[in-house]
Amino acid sequence: MNEHEIRLRASDLEDSGDKGINPSQNLTMGEVIAARFNRRDLLKGSLAVAAISATVGNRALAANPPVATKGRGASFNFKEIEAGVDHTHHVAEGYDAQILLRWGDPIFPDAPEFDPAAQSAEKQRRQFGYNSDFVGYIPLNGSSDHGLLVVNHEYTNEELMFPGVGVQDMKDVNFAGMTKDLVDIEMAAHGGAVVEIKRQNGKWQLVKDSKYNRRITAETPIEITGPAAGHDRMKTTADASGRKVNGMVNNCAGGVTPWGTWLSCEENFNGYFWGKLADDHAEAKNYKRYGIGSPAYAWGKFYDRFDIVKEPNEANRFGWVVEIDPFDANAVPKKRTALGRTKHEGAAGIVSRDGHYVMYLGDDERFDYVYKFVTAGKVDPANRAANFNLLDSGVLYVAKYNADGTGTWLPLVHGQGPLTEANGFKSQADVLIETRRAADLLGATKMDRPEDIEANPATNRVYVMLTNNTRRKDDQVDAANPRANNAFGHIVEMLPEGGDHAAKAFTWEVLVKCGDPSVASVGATFSSETTKNGWFGMPDNCAVDSQGRLWIATDGNNAKATGRADGLWALETEGEMRGTSKHFFRVPAGAEMCGPFFTPNDETLFLAVQHPGEAEEGAPASYDKPATRWPDFKDNLPPRPSVLVVTKQGGGKIA
Ligand code: FEO
Ligand code: CA
Ligand code: CA
Repeated sequence: MNEHEIRLRASDLEDSGDKGINPSQNLTMGEVIAARFNRRDLLKGSLAVAAISATVGNRALAANPPVATKGRGASFNFKEIEAGVDHTHHVAEGYDAQILLRWGDPIFPDAPEFDPAAQSAEKQRRQFGYNSDFVGYIPLNGSSDHGLLVVNHEYTNEELMFPGVGVQDMKDVNFAGMTKDLVDIEMAAHGGAVVEIKRQNGKWQLVKDSKYNRRITAETPIEITGPAAGHDRMKTTADASGRKVNGMVNNCAGGVTPWGTWLSCEENFNGYFWGKLADDHAEAKNYKRYGIGSPAYAWGKFYDRFDIVKEPNEANRFGWVVEIDPFDANAVPKKRTALGRTKHEGAAGIVSRDGHYVMYLGDDERFDYVYKFVTAGKVDPANRAANFNLLDSGVLYVAKYNADGTGTWLPLVHGQGPLTEANGFKSQADVLIETRRAADLLGATKMDRPEDIEANPATNRVYVMLTNNTRRKDDQVDAANPRANNAFGHIVEMLPEGGDHAAKAFTWEVLVKCGDPSVASVGATFSSETTKNGWFGMPDNCAVDSQGRLWIATDGNNAKATGRADGLWALETEGEMRGTSKHFFRVPAGAEMCGPFFTPNDETLFLAVQHPGEAEEGAPASYDKPATRWPDFKDNLPPRPSVLVVTKQGGGKIA
């Protein structure tokens, strides 16, 4: 749509990289899939047959058969909701969805109540932030009824937060209405929050006077650690050490480590930086590869560090995975450079067979890559503090998917292969600062926007959410695999060699191609058991519950294109029902679905509703005219991004 073309974008950062900015010649995932399944014309015929064959057929091609799940029937028994869109949220019958924390809710005893007409940065620093994405639950003493919630506040929507301001990131507006006070509120609404929560008499509540509660913002002092810390390219006017940076931005998904820390991932950091470097500037190529130069925020108008002409190294200090210890409200968060610098989606992990910690990392941009990081050291389950620097050394790998269903993890190690001084990499710091360019040279496989990636401890399978890629061209796909203009995305399932997540080889297959299976041209491959409510598009965040079942949150369905809002779907991955999806929860108009995260006993599911009331294409929305006033529905209150808790009425597992 035209609006997409002219907006510099704030919300559209999610859908950014219009053309993709990967200039390498590496194969796209579509090309690999096309090569692998080039006999897809065999599947022509009735849609149902095609759908079943495509799902089952892919599976038959797997080099490693699935583990002991034959004959397993449906594992989800909730009653599916109707797909659709209206002003509010909907959850499956027999479940409650309670609003736990809204944007602006005070999270300290002395914090002021929310008043959107009289908001200030000072108030916002004591209140819950905007646009929650990742939500993690860390039990206190192993409890599923009492723990710490760690929440990312990814980005802000100025048009919905501030009265009379409207959309500011249009080229013709160019942030004219943004004042320093408004920018300061935005910076305070970014970052994340740690809050203590407790379930009493069946109802979850914030513990407001908890010693654990804290806000992290775009100004919080953060330490830079790992191989890139202290490098000249990390030094700025304010920080001659190259080891201290203020703030984290655009923190999308994340992870919780076995030692109880929170990993929060900086995604579209490029949108915060103003200015353009001369083509012959030392950082010009680097910044171009990350799309820096089309700001979505006004911060560079008031702060020199967000203008790369004035502070050319500051952007090298963003795009990292941040580790935060939620048990110490004064702990300095750490940007772990060993994990690479990309538009990090998430960092969910699993302990390898030999005790190393392995995190799977998506780089969310069209034609960018899937990574993993394997720690050099082993997780020490007996001594929490012994794990505190585990993420500073190890090997970062990028994925190459072969046409025969095998795959290889290629190490991003300085001095190996093309990662040498001749190609501009003088040290491991250079490799990490320019992770994308290093991965280009290694020949990694170009993917359709890798979002969340989760490993399933029950089967060791790894699910890669590939949200969409509408810029994939016809000549990058096979005619029998009609996923050019991949509007609905797909999910790739990987199995590490020998079930060992530290292994350098894997096998893979397509778990499902998303979209409406009743529209033949879409080419979706949900099982024929999937109802008209059960299919989804644009997989984004996901979770594996303690029974090893996959839950998928979506971002990008909209009423106009699909007649349905985003939401949460449960997808069968094993046995005869594999590829069957069911609709569990849907968000109000304009929103996307984030979270999801389960308590260890699967009795509580945390969800986040991001940017409710935001415009869908072609329909402007603002503070005064939002698409909904969820969740308060009061004329004087704008919509408020919120975290919800879902529980079963009368108790029990979410199933
Ligand atoms: Fe912030 Fe890739 O989703
Ligand atoms: Ca996401
Ligand atoms: Ca998203």
